[in-house]
Amino acid sequence: MRNDNVMRTKIAGVGKGVPEKVLTNLDLEKMVDTSDEWITERTGIKERHVAAEGQVTSDMAAEAAREACRAAGVKPEELDCIVLGTVTPDMPMPATAAFVQQKIGARSIPAFDISAACAGWLFGLGVADGLIGRGNFKRVLVIGVELLSRVLDWSDRNTCVLFGDAAGAAVLVPSESEGQGILDVEMRTDGAQAVHLEIPGGGSVHPASHKTVDEKLHIVHMNGRQIFTHAVRNMSAASATVLERCGYKPEDVTTVFAHQANMRILEGVSQRTGIGLERFFINIQRYGNTSSASIPIALSEALAEGKVKQGDLLLLTALGAGVSWASALVRW
Ligand code: ACO
Repeated sequence: MRNDNVMRTKIAGVGKGVPEKVLTNLDLEKMVDTSDEWITERTGIKERHVAAEGQVTSDMAAEAAREACRAAGVKPEELDCIVLGTVTPDMPMPATAAFVQQKIGARSIPAFDISAACAGWLFGLGVADGLIGRGNFKRVLVIGVELLSRVLDWSDRNTCVLFGDAAGAAVLVPSESEGQGILDVEMRTDGAQAVHLEIPGGGSVHPASHKTVDEKLHIVHMNGRQIFTHAVRNMSAASATVLERCGYKPEDVTTVFAHQANMRILEGVSQRTGIGLERFFINIQRYGNTSSASIPIALSEALAEGKVKQGDLLLLTALGAGVSWASALVRW
């Protein structure tokens, strides 16, 4: 629960950066032993976007960042900090946020990455909320971006059908009104479950070598069933926590922006939280799982469609590798 002495933070503008190229389930049928029917039924995904050759993570992030700045009425040179959630950086060093800073023309403000996989943008939201709340920063850009198509095994039907590339971003500023803005953020990690979702190669455990490439250690390895169970359980529990701490009930929530991982995960979270699926914003059919980008993209589309109004109570929730998960409650 937030300390009452800190300033409240609000989301002033949201944007997205999505590659043009679309890969449909029918395209995938030609690549691996799968079917549109299987993918649709098990995941809800119909198509996803993939980055063009030469397009990199910071390109998509910069596009989303510029759009978020425009929406917020903040010039990139007025930003005070950039926080970027990703597990598919431009390179291991330096931070992708440093490249974004250059691409959007921000000043020499702090710019750093957060590694919380699909929960990366929500972790960024929590960090930015803390930075603004203490009064040290006024305009913080929070980006979630993922270029997973470069770290997938395109011959493994278990994983390659699930993900898409994209970026989403938001500019956070102090809220003038006590009742409006980020009410609470709950962030958790359970490292005992780390083994269920990894890119094992390229770090200190398995430094890059011919062997790591031959053994495909540089691509996503996932135990889908375990991740499924943890996602439903933990996203629901963290959501219940923020609702309870802020004195709200499931029926008070206007719209849920849950990480668009899988339609069946969204159905599970709906059942467990007692918030009807009709109150979930869903766009997974067009994007697949874009990891840390999925919530800001959903928020950006909902705003563009006029589906978020002042005074709405929004519940945001995500889980990803780590496993790390978070829920946030926002009064728009
Ligand atoms: N096309 C056709 N068949 C497939 C495919 C595919 N793309 N993928 C797997 N199968 C087959 C399997 O080989 C298996 O066949 P078998 O019975 O002959 O061995 C069968 O389908 C069932 O496989 P399961 O893995 O048991 O299928 P399940 O119903 O668990 O669905 C899925 C798999 C969709 C991955 C599910 O476990 C899931 O959604 N997990 C969550 C994973 C996730 O969302 N990860 C994203 C990152 S983390 C996050 O964002 C939360």
